[in-house]
Amino acid sequence: MTSIAVFASGNGSNFQAIIDAIQSGDLAAEVKLLVCDKQDAFVLKRAKQSGIDTFAFQPKAYASKAAFERQIAAELEKLKIEYLVLAGYMRLIGPTLLERFSNKIINIHPSLLPAFPGIDAIGQALRAGVEETGVTIHFVDEGMDTGPIIAQKRVKVCSKDTEETLAAKIHELEHRFYPATLQQLFHQASEGAEHGKKSVN
Ligand code: GAR
Repeated sequence: MTSIAVFASGNGSNFQAIIDAIQSGDLAAEVKLLVCDKQDAFVLKRAKQSGIDTFAFQPKAYASKAAFERQIAAELEKLKIEYLVLAGYMRLIGPTLLERFSNKIINIHPSLLPAFPGIDAIGQALRAGVEETGVTIHFVDEGMDTGPIIAQKRVKVCSKDTEETLAAKIHELEHRFYPATLQQLFHQASEGAEHGKKSVN
């Protein structure tokens, strides 16, 4: 069973989708911790309701990003977390976590990256008048919504779409696509580890 920590800053509908997929047996993982950088985020209520431990911190209470990431890293190490799953965590990951979790940090972004990185990706797409946008799941590097792409799915933009209708389509897709992609990734990783063991034996 893969041990994960979910990082989120807001509503947490993707966090909820991950929890639900685990509960229904579609995702073989355990969410051991929710990390949240906003004390009043709704995602904290969701975690409480599901009995998941939280680490909620105030970035401004620390001298630097390295300082709060060192504390997060200590929490993650205590729990033997294998993967960090970013689900609406609106903050760049710094070298402290990137070095400790190299190729083990995953993000979801509501556009077909490299198009429309950063905040308000859905609004950016709508204002640009594109005919399609989508969702990208990728490994995290030091950039803003950059890093190797794991999977992408397209969403058609209709002329009638508003930010609300387009956001609804994208979120509905995210909630199915993120758990399914994580399941594939963790499954492949565990098969790879098994192969590794066999070739050593
Ligand atoms: C999601 O749409 C996610 O793709 C996006 O934030 C939303 C969080 O929603 N992430 C980014 O824009 C990352 N750059 P949620 O809190 O309801 O899961």
